[in-house]
Amino acid sequence: MEERGRAVITYRPQAVFDKEATLIFLEQDHVLGKTLESFPGELKKEIEFLHTTDQFTGESGQVFPLIFRKKIILLAGLGKKEELTLMSLRATVRKALQASFLKKIKNVEMLVPDPTDDVMNAVLEAVLIGNYTWRKYRTENSENKTVDDKHIFLVAGSKKVFEETRVICEGVNFTRDLINDNADVITSEYMEGAVRRLIKDKKNVSVEILNKKELKAKGLGLHLAVNQGSKKEPKLMIVQYHGSSKKDDTTALVGKGLTFDTGGLNLKPTGSMETMRTDMSGAAAVLGVLKNVLSLNVKKNILFVIALAENVIGSQAYKPGDVIKGYAGKTVEVGNTDAEGRLVLADAISYTIKNYKPSRLIDIATLTGACVVALGYDYSGLVSPDEQLASQLLRSSEQTDDRVWRLPIYAELKDAIKSKVADIRNIGFAKGAAGALTAAEFLHQFTENTPWAHLDIAGTAFVEGDGRMYFGHGATGAGVRLLTHFLRYN
Ligand code: BES
Ligand code: MN
Ligand code: ZN
Repeated sequence: MEERGRAVITYRPQAVFDKEATLIFLEQDHVLGKTLESFPGELKKEIEFLHTTDQFTGESGQVFPLIFRKKIILLAGLGKKEELTLMSLRATVRKALQASFLKKIKNVEMLVPDPTDDVMNAVLEAVLIGNYTWRKYRTENSENKTVDDKHIFLVAGSKKVFEETRVICEGVNFTRDLINDNADVITSEYMEGAVRRLIKDKKNVSVEILNKKELKAKGLGLHLAVNQGSKKEPKLMIVQYHGSSKKDDTTALVGKGLTFDTGGLNLKPTGSMETMRTDMSGAAAVLGVLKNVLSLNVKKNILFVIALAENVIGSQAYKPGDVIKGYAGKTVEVGNTDAEGRLVLADAISYTIKNYKPSRLIDIATLTGACVVALGYDYSGLVSPDEQLASQLLRSSEQTDDRVWRLPIYAELKDAIKSKVADIRNIGFAKGAAGALTAAEFLHQFTENTPWAHLDIAGTAFVEGDGRMYFGHGATGAGVRLLTHFLRYN
């Protein structure tokens, strides 16, 4: 069984019309533009005819098939240039590739007139990310053989941009595979194996792995408490990547890796638990970024921190009302065992700061349902008291369309997580009030003086159904393109 569809993509500098089908994207007001000049004369005439008879106008979403030299030419409309965004382009390209005319066709040539780097990047993402399907558990039958199996020959501009985007999309899909699979497959042990495979034979990488025994010896009590009801090994992995000789310039990425979140004794109800294998999406994103950083040979020093645990029930499970001491020495009152991500992250953040002294730290986590209420499924939440870090991340978000929206953090928030019996409490006292912010403030209490930003991907990491933006059903790889871009350019 193949894990997922893998569209193969090959770069070519110009259209050859030698494949079973050629997919041509045309803008509404430029159907007869410059690009047409390079086409074979008869084809040009066909397109001109279709255009003057109003049969193909280039409207957004329009797909028109014609046969030329016994090959299929598919004209696809991009709509008006002023209305075209990179996001709508991705959606259009994805949809056109799924057109029924191409169903049985394996080799497709594809071209967009005069692509800028941005356009080519978006088209490539539409092919490689937009046509990803998770099908490890679908038994083989012809219906499953859709666009995933195609070989796309993309007529594109810069070969360099093409290669970089291809590599980054691989990282995104790697992350998605980890998120989509069963919780009992993607365990902490599996994640350790994944890390070891990624860094095998790399000279500028080292890794520290803390298992239950070491977590206990070093006093990561919060992390351990969350995992207490589980038979699986809790694990904290710190991958140290050396890409630069600059000493005081190290970015730490910390990912929440709850391989499953039942809520613990504050058990989640039916309807809220079904997708909780995806509660390791932050950790998976960090691994995807690691993969990209290795492939692109990014010239930065980076720590990839992956905190793994399983929040399940049983006689050993940690309990509401428990007071637990974490690595930083602070005591925490457990107001709710379902607010477990912040506990695991608090210890991971403390441990990273104390032992590795990063110059900035970004955590990424499926942290709160409240973030989904606030922002929905298309924007990840960004919380940061650091103006520079926040604006750098917002810029990367704009550049990649891996969308984030900034939420506030301010001094008075710390009053919301006061405890009467411990130093701090893991839930806010006002139920339902700004849960995404109190969760972020909780993490903030452990960041000391390190410039810090928090990404809440609870709404963006996973799509149900089909067609949100340019994603199919399942994991999206939220954060991977964003953080890869951020690390490369900041
Ligand atoms: N993993 C969840 C957050 C989540 C919700 C992720 C929906 C993806 C989709 C997190 O551990 C959680 O349960 N948070 C609670 C916190 C509450 C108990 C304060 C929540 O958001 O309900
Ligand atoms: Mn939870
Ligand atoms: Zn969780």
